[in-house]
Amino acid sequence: MRRGKFITLEGPEGSGKSTHARTLVARMTQAGFSVIAAREPGGTRLGEAIRKLLQQDAADEPLGSEAELFLFMASRAQLVQQVILPALAKGIHVVCDRFADSTSAYQGYGRGVDLDRILMINDLAVQGLMPDVTLLLDIPVAIGFERLQVRNADANAQKDRIEREALGFHERVRDGYLDLARRWPDRIRRIDTSGVFSEVNEELWRVVKRVIDG
Ligand code: TMP
Repeated sequence: MRRGKFITLEGPEGSGKSTHARTLVARMTQAGFSVIAAREPGGTRLGEAIRKLLQQDAADEPLGSEAELFLFMASRAQLVQQVILPALAKGIHVVCDRFADSTSAYQGYGRGVDLDRILMINDLAVQGLMPDVTLLLDIPVAIGFERLQVRNADANAQKDRIEREALGFHERVRDGYLDLARRWPDRIRRIDTSGVFSEVNEELWRVVKRVIDG
């Protein structure tokens, strides 16, 4: 049996990543592919509990960068072992909303944790698993934040702990992603997501079909 393809979606805040991931999975299913959706942090019972821990600081105890890094890694390790590897082995494709590049971008470029160490710890967490393709949904920080504001207003939601970081942090994250795309040009496909949703999703679909057929 052919192993499933592992497809990850990445990007800064407000890139529309999660909506694109959902639409992509629906299209793949409609086209007759076996596919599951996953997200990080989360996707397992442990992961969803970690996600809650990561969303807000305890009032008197800010989360340190290293503790934050290991929480993301723990969620990832569980997701890889419990969900992603078993699905791929059964020939099921996996579309994951964020994966290892998020840690490089946010904790590495954003927080300043050493990138080589992050890559090493990550390799342990994912048991060597790498995405077949990573769709980097790129958007200028200012536009991403405008979208985020609209989304939060519609959902009557507040910014979470990471969304509340200064603009400089989010600029480093975006630049970090662009750096990662230059470092791994064969794996990471940058897609400008400031345009019309349906056209952007069409482009994602074309890239994914090529990976699945290839
Ligand atoms: P999201 O579900 O809106 O993408 O939220 C996840 C948040 O967690 C987002 O702000 C990015 C952040 N994050 C990291 O900082 N490091 C990571 O490794 C992952 C997976 C997410």
